[in-house]
Amino acid sequence: MPASTPTTTVQLQCMKQGGPLEIVHVPYPTPKEDEVLIRQKVVAFNLVDTKQRDFAVRSSKFPCVLGLEGGGVVEAVGDGVTRFKVGDEVAGWEWEAFQERVAAKEGMLFKKPSNLTLVEAASMPDCLVTAISAIVTALHIPLPFFSSLPAEGSPPSSVLILGGASAVGANAVQLLGVAYPSLPIIATASSKHHSHITNLGASQVVDYKSSSVTADIKAASPNGIGVDIIIDCVAAGASQTDICDALDKNGSKRYSSVFTGVDMPVLEGVNKIVTLVNLALNRPRGNEIIAEITKLVEKGIYKLPLPVRVIRYGLEALVDILDEVKKASYKKPILIL
Ligand SMILES: NC(=O)c1ccc[n+]([C@@H]2O[C@H](COP(=O)([O-])OP(=O)(O)OC[C@H]3O[C@@H](n4cnc5c(N)ncnc54)[C@H](OP(=O)(O)O)[C@@H]3O)[C@@H](O)[C@H]2O)c1
Repeated sequence: MPASTPTTTVQLQCMKQGGPLEIVHVPYPTPKEDEVLIRQKVVAFNLVDTKQRDFAVRSSKFPCVLGLEGGGVVEAVGDGVTRFKVGDEVAGWEWEAFQERVAAKEGMLFKKPSNLTLVEAASMPDCLVTAISAIVTALHIPLPFFSSLPAEGSPPSSVLILGGASAVGANAVQLLGVAYPSLPIIATASSKHHSHITNLGASQVVDYKSSSVTADIKAASPNGIGVDIIIDCVAAGASQTDICDALDKNGSKRYSSVFTGVDMPVLEGVNKIVTLVNLALNRPRGNEIIAEITKLVEKGIYKLPLPVRVIRYGLEALVDILDEVKKASYKKPILIL
């Protein structure tokens, strides 16, 4: 540790299930062999942060540090780290992101793409890889522009993405749109977001607040016969209980449901596959998917799917504002440290 290095750093701990959150001083971390020590500049919010505080969905251990993802500048690297050096700007999964300095696994990080800000880069990984999990791991649809993903399975004849303006949904629309430009992709979203979701790659966008939403989706499907598969990114099926009627009776009748903690029964004969981000991260070469994000964005193959919303500055602000994040929003919330 250089002489000028501080001896302590601060983290935001969730003291027990349900809170409170408190700023705690802890010893300055030393990265392990495969870790990168990051001086955090930004942290991104996900709904799971409040779900961990309130329902301990990720771990039953408290006190704990919340936050999945963030970004900053590399301050030190472990002896086995080869992809990053001191001074690099990186983003990715940190698992305990709400702190001033975090030691994160090298394989969970990517270099900030030169055409994105750090705020934008930090907003991307969790929901992008969750969408990859839904498409590739749950439904076996290849995404050829990711060289680290297998080419098993085949594309569907049409797809419905429920929650096209959610962070997971916008990524799913874009991934499929880039991979299969002529695939009929129907997405649901509020009408104010239709043009954005169309620009990402949807061929049709339907307002999920319409009283005839399932019939509207079916009418928008090729020849009005319904869609081959559904990717539900927001547990929409829990309220749109007739949504399986939008499936083509002669299609593959697969329903990929992103895990939200909400139970969602489907019609008999429909194959529901629950999706978690870990499905893609834990697969062989899972780390390489993350590393590939930088090049795909820099080459313009993949773009930031949703705008970001900087909500307040400083780790201390998080003590009071976490509930703001609980209100799901089209713009991904980010805090600058
Ligand atoms: N299991 C995992 O690994 C994993 C990973 C990531 C996320 N998740 C979960 O996935 C869910 C989505 O997360 P997110 O961050 O992508 O959400 P988000 O970005 O916060 O999604 C908010 C958007 O969802 C849309 N929406 C809400 N209800 C809808 C409905 N019934 N039909 C269509 N659209 C609807 C709204 O779009 P409009 O603005 O157009 O109304 C809203 O703006 C959360 O429950 C999260 O915890 C799970």
